[in-house]
Amino acid sequence: MVGFKCIGCNFNTELFEMLLIYFERHEVATLADDRDFTEYETGLSIEIVDGGYVVSVCEKGQVVASQKVDESKEVSPAVKEMFVAPIKNSIKRTCATLLEQYTKYKAPWGIQTGVKPVKLATMCKRRGMADVEGADFLAKELLIRQDKCEVLFKVAENEHKILETTPQNSYSIYVGTPFCPTICSYCSFGSYPIGAYKACVEQYVDSVVAEARAAAKVLDSKGLTCDCVYFGGGTPTSIEASQMDRMMSGVLEVFSPKELTCEAGRPDSINEEKLAVMRKNGVDRLAINPQTMKAETLRRIGRRHTPEDTVRIYELARSMGFGNINMDLIAGLEGETVEDFENTLSWIKKLDPEGFTVHSLCLKRASKLMKDQGARADAKQMDAMVDAGYALAREMGMEPYYLYRQKNASGNLENTGFAKPGRFCRYNVLIEEETQHILGLGAGAVSKAVKDPVNLERCFNIKDPLQYIADIDGQIAKKIDFLKKMY
Ligand SMILES: C[S@@+](CC[C@H](N)C(=O)[O-])C[C@H]1O[C@@H](n2cnc3c(N)ncnc32)[C@H](O)[C@@H]1O
Ligand code: SF4
Repeated sequence: MVGFKCIGCNFNTELFEMLLIYFERHEVATLADDRDFTEYETGLSIEIVDGGYVVSVCEKGQVVASQKVDESKEVSPAVKEMFVAPIKNSIKRTCATLLEQYTKYKAPWGIQTGVKPVKLATMCKRRGMADVEGADFLAKELLIRQDKCEVLFKVAENEHKILETTPQNSYSIYVGTPFCPTICSYCSFGSYPIGAYKACVEQYVDSVVAEARAAAKVLDSKGLTCDCVYFGGGTPTSIEASQMDRMMSGVLEVFSPKELTCEAGRPDSINEEKLAVMRKNGVDRLAINPQTMKAETLRRIGRRHTPEDTVRIYELARSMGFGNINMDLIAGLEGETVEDFENTLSWIKKLDPEGFTVHSLCLKRASKLMKDQGARADAKQMDAMVDAGYALAREMGMEPYYLYRQKNASGNLENTGFAKPGRFCRYNVLIEEETQHILGLGAGAVSKAVKDPVNLERCFNIKDPLQYIADIDGQIAKKIDFLKKMY
């Protein structure tokens, strides 16, 4: 058990989150200011004192390391401009340094805890820093490991190439199908099992198409152009081919995108008829997601497909003319070793898709799986898996082009999308960078209006598909109101 105390400062939450990085598999409790750490294996205390702060690490109540820092130390102009509270970085750095010595664990992302670290590289570039200089700055200020700093600048460069070709006054569309063949054990997307919802799918498709038509009228009248359409989920291919056809053609009758993607996702939901529907509707980018090529893991996580299904569906899609396929993988799935993940990567090499994405397994701390600690990769193994992903991408001539982080990621690692040059998915970058308006259609979809780079307005559709269908007129009225006011 680990104890945490933060006296006199107002960013306890961030400091607490940082402590979790070092104690991923421990229970961590926040203590009242007057409690001591006697009952705790480890304790971290931060106390603001006159002119600075003191950080101490304790073992069973005894201080084993402590540092007092004078707050008045010079802060560089770059730090002042890029970080609202430089003192916060300073406290986090001191905590990280002491915790690193105590746990012998070096966090790959140092004290960086935000979900969009690429923005840091973009900010450095805007200040006129060369990539090497910017990487050194982030390594020093945030203790981010050098290889991670370098990848941030590479992704920022690739993102820039995409963003500079984004048409002016444009928007992209996300169409959600919140159903899946089964619910994967690690999923937090709140998807619904198709078996229990079959009876409402026709009405669901009608509702999405009605929402699309109503939104198109408003957007046309504003003179905005459609850039990308992304059919996502859940699993868009979990519904029947005829229903997919009605949904896709209904949306594409009123919107004409320059990039059209379908996150088919689960190989057990894809067949020739559904692939034909996608071809007919002009889908030029397709995701077929193995997650792993180990049959036992697939069974354990509740995905009802085999590695052979993935290969068969991939080859079928290729034979039907799909020329841009992406494959999603998860590093750190329960029971998997570094060798298992490397085996999955060797399949990616054999299949030779245009892109693949490596996700680091994220589990809510309280989740049941989290308690099954022995079976999950530790931070060192996670690092090796993620590094193997980068190595394969290089070998296959791919580059990282989008990257984001999530809370509770195993090994405190990132999610990175790789693709061959010219095969980057614009939509993935636009969603990360939040520089373009997004129209979200369907249950749970979120629409975003970008007023300026730091000012985003959102409009949320109801999550539950049955409630969404029941309230479709209300949903449409709300959406029209939002679009009229925002764009
Ligand atoms: C929007 S999800 C849905 C894709 C699709 N439904 C599927 O599962 O194949 C996109 C990707 O996020 C990743 N993902 C989902 N849940 C995750 C989790 N708990 N931890 C890490 N990655 C996750 C998976 O690789 C998944 O393919
Ligand atoms: S298929 Fe994808 S969206 Fe559906 S439950 Fe599994 S991870 Fe979640």
